[in-house]
Amino acid sequence: MTRSTTALVTGGAGLIGSHIVDAARAEGWGVRVMDSLEPQTHPHGKPAWVADDIEFMAGDVRNGADWERALDGIDIVFHEAAYGGYMPEIAKFIHVNSYGTALMLETIRDRDLPIRKIVMASSQAVYNEGAYSCPEHGHFYGETRPVAQLERGDYEVHCPVCDRPSTPVPTDEAAPMGGENVYAISKADQERLLISFGRATGLPVVALRYSCTYGPRQSLFNPYTGVIAIFCTRLMNDLPPVVYEDGRQSRDLVFVEDVARANLLVATDSRADGGVFNVGTGNAVAIGDLARTLARQLGKAIEPDIPGEFRPGEMRALISDISKLEAIGYRPEVDLAQGIARYLEWIAGQGDIGEYFSEAEARLRARNIVKKATAGRAS
Ligand SMILES: NC(=O)c1ccc[n+]([C@@H]2O[C@H](COP(=O)([O-])OP(=O)(O)OC[C@H]3O[C@@H](n4cnc5c(N)ncnc54)[C@H](O)[C@@H]3O)[C@@H](O)[C@H]2O)c1
Ligand SMILES: [Zn+2]
Repeated sequence: MTRSTTALVTGGAGLIGSHIVDAARAEGWGVRVMDSLEPQTHPHGKPAWVADDIEFMAGDVRNGADWERALDGIDIVFHEAAYGGYMPEIAKFIHVNSYGTALMLETIRDRDLPIRKIVMASSQAVYNEGAYSCPEHGHFYGETRPVAQLERGDYEVHCPVCDRPSTPVPTDEAAPMGGENVYAISKADQERLLISFGRATGLPVVALRYSCTYGPRQSLFNPYTGVIAIFCTRLMNDLPPVVYEDGRQSRDLVFVEDVARANLLVATDSRADGGVFNVGTGNAVAIGDLARTLARQLGKAIEPDIPGEFRPGEMRALISDISKLEAIGYRPEVDLAQGIARYLEWIAGQGDIGEYFSEAEARLRARNIVKKATAGRAS
């Protein structure tokens, strides 16, 4: 008889990790969580959704002794813990994300641990900019837009040949990896460390490039991550969502349970081994439209505020081309309307949103990293 599988989920108290925990338990697997309960994400400690009957280990991916304890007796690792979002730090991203991953791999190698597979959270952020089509010159991969261009209030991605504004098209995994913001650099590091380790050692590894993930359990405290969470907390406080650029920038928003299902799929299908896969829906929504949809669903007659601000290094548009993962059986099951409904149902049960909101706002005011276009308000 085969022994049942035991999975380690790092970052298992967070949005995606906690749903992977649920999906792994539904398979009958044993689960251990290692999470440092990052105060920005969990200011009140261990969240209620970390079940009492799973093994929870308070540990930090920057600590080798914590990795040794966490990896003991584990078959499959889901490495989700990371420092994320548009945070002002530089060194901490590299320390948690790049160094933390390096330390995991070194521990596995040096201790000769019998891990069977590692699945790791990468991000669409590694692309910097999505794929585009020029009406005349066809397909190209966009470059990060120069800050000087954004300062003029020109947010479009231009064709490198004729300079005409171009239309976003689905981005496949062959798009070049970039690295124009520190988070993106650290996610690219994590991914390359993992894939090269897999090649060198023969250990099956998979990197998943998630697009914007949302759903129940997304931190209500972190004002830097989760566009739906941020817009909802503002609307529920009768404030307009603040939309950057001109509101026509777009994202592929994927429901967290679909991301968890993708993790279980690649963990159990050897066709995924050694691969890098986009995880999204293949559809994109304009951020201004998203703000209006959320206002409508919350019953608030509030238009978004579009003050003409932007974040340097942010991409204009990303539609995930998910055909590579679809070829091994992935199908997103929860569309945006259903996902938003599920999220709003959850947030309604979360108590005093006003209180969460003021804590998060105070953090934002403390360190503002948004820039304003000199061209003034976007039309
Ligand atoms: N949410 C998204 O839209 C998105 C998109 C692309 C990629 N990702 C990646 O997916 C993964 C999970 O993201 P999430 O949205 O669930 O974030 P999250 O913040 O909800 O969860 C991350 C968890 O990691 C923990 N953590 C942070 N630093 C740690 C450390 N040093 N040691 C141990 N634990 C630590 C946090 O306490 C938290 O519980 C991350 O690797 C992130 O980069 C997320
Ligand atoms: Zn052109």
